[in-house]
Amino acid sequence: MNKKAILLAGGAGTRLYPLTKIVCKQLLPVYDKPMICYPLATLMLGGLREVLIISTPKDLPMLEDYLGDGSQLGIRIAYAEQPKPEGIAQAFLIGADFLAGAGASLILGDNIFYGKLDFYRAALAVEQGACVFGYQVRDPERYGVVEFNAEGRAISLEEKPKNPKSHHAVPGLYVYDERVVEFCRALRPSARGELEITDLNMMYLERGELSVKLLSRGMAWLDTGTQTSLLEASNYIATIEHRQGMKIACLEEVAFRVGSIDQAQLEAILGRLPKGEYREYLRVVAEEGARTVAPTA
Ligand code: G1P
Repeated sequence: MNKKAILLAGGAGTRLYPLTKIVCKQLLPVYDKPMICYPLATLMLGGLREVLIISTPKDLPMLEDYLGDGSQLGIRIAYAEQPKPEGIAQAFLIGADFLAGAGASLILGDNIFYGKLDFYRAALAVEQGACVFGYQVRDPERYGVVEFNAEGRAISLEEKPKNPKSHHAVPGLYVYDERVVEFCRALRPSARGELEITDLNMMYLERGELSVKLLSRGMAWLDTGTQTSLLEASNYIATIEHRQGMKIACLEEVAFRVGSIDQAQLEAILGRLPKGEYREYLRVVAEEGARTVAPTA
């Protein structure tokens, strides 16, 4: 697998105003850490090591200040601007040089996945075509929606339909082969003036090259698009973390467990972190890690 990752942290932040007046949505807290940690952890757990973070000119410096070049996590993070919110699929045009002909996985900066990520690793291993996922939700009209036929094959995709044909939303996690940039160049803006990710997925679907895998109900896919769903996501993360005594999407821990940093690097990080609960947690991870490195989700 030689795919690279794009994390799109764009958007005008209108739905979460005034929270987003000061800081961009992807840096708002989801319980005990900034939102962007969750999608970044998903990419890292998928095995990706080269990430392009795309955001607005205003927000990019803050994201860069937080995550740097990624070397502290044993990965490479590059940054690029999306000057105007001209659509999710534009990320591949902005990221064309970064991708340099490689296949790509895109994750949206406000999508949170919790559970076993085998489905994602399997999709990343496929060389040709594209893969998106389906997840049952109560309110599909808020999302891209996929419809299946009786044989379980995806037959239609619609972006925020008024009358959804199914309850299966398409989460903001996508995998494409190396033709993705070329396909995006052929896209035209939709009625709302955006290059739609759903139109890109349609291009693969029409060629019979889109695989749509349903996520099991045991997976949690949370979104943070409204004040209520943001609070619910925080409560969900807090519940699991308190119950298990383990953190979700603690980036330094993820890096250590996927092997992108070693014991000595984790200990060096500990020395730089401020005193507090987060450092204490990582200290225990490092101590236990010295004995055994547990597999992750
Ligand atoms: C975007 C996509 C939509 C997808 C959703 C997932 O919508 O356009 O197809 O289902 O992300 O979060 P947005 O949240 O940008 O309105």
